[in-house]
Amino acid sequence: MIELNKKNIPKHIAITMDGNGRWAKAKGKNRVFGHKNGVKAVRETVESAVENNIEFLTLYAFSTENWMRPKLEVNSLMNLLISSIINETKTLMKNDIKLMAIGDINKIPKTAKNKLDSVIEKTKNNAKMSLILAISYSGRWEIINAVKKIIKNNVDANEINEHLFEQYLDTKNVPDPELVIRTSGEHRISNFLLWQIAYSELYFTKVFWPDFRKKDFINAIVEYQKRDRRFGK
Ligand code: FPP
Repeated sequence: MIELNKKNIPKHIAITMDGNGRWAKAKGKNRVFGHKNGVKAVRETVESAVENNIEFLTLYAFSTENWMRPKLEVNSLMNLLISSIINETKTLMKNDIKLMAIGDINKIPKTAKNKLDSVIEKTKNNAKMSLILAISYSGRWEIINAVKKIIKNNVDANEINEHLFEQYLDTKNVPDPELVIRTSGEHRISNFLLWQIAYSELYFTKVFWPDFRKKDFINAIVEYQKRDRRFGK
């Protein structure tokens, strides 16, 4: 068993869950099979995050760009996402996990949105960990949306600073992630949390998301604990 330094646990870890499609293709199966097998990795990661006292876990579940995938894949992904959330509601309650969503969630089909809203409402007073799902999310969309809200509020230009701007982001009241993990060997940000990752440590692993397990999550934190964070100073 790897021992983590309990004094240097990141408060917030964000993950781009990548490689479901390639994982499935390597097995001669369709992409949806990959997404279905990604759910087990989500469960293990959430469990490990709770066990290690992570306060915020953000998962990139569906990007703004994902809407352009074939309709069948989009529908399956949405259904999988919502059914997983519904199925896990009891576990979220038992483990004191609050579910949150960031992104343009008004774009998701109404019935799915209603179900998502009901779980968010039900878990809103849970306090052990916040599980933040990025759904129909992109960092540029979030920043532009913040600008629109600021203009609509007639905010004086002289009042705009980093602190004020953050109040208009979807991640309002969520600390920036200290660690961002991306699976599947891709070394890109792909429009994920652009504002929030200014000083984040980035960790890349070749493991495809459906194979991601607790030990992979712990390895990422171990690597993070070895880094020397200077914040530009
Ligand atoms: C990326 O793989 C993965 C996604 C776009 C979706 C991730 C969603 C899940 C694992 C479903 C369940 C989620 C929750 C939170 C319950 P990809 O399709 O981009 O793979 P590729 O890069 O190999 O094509």
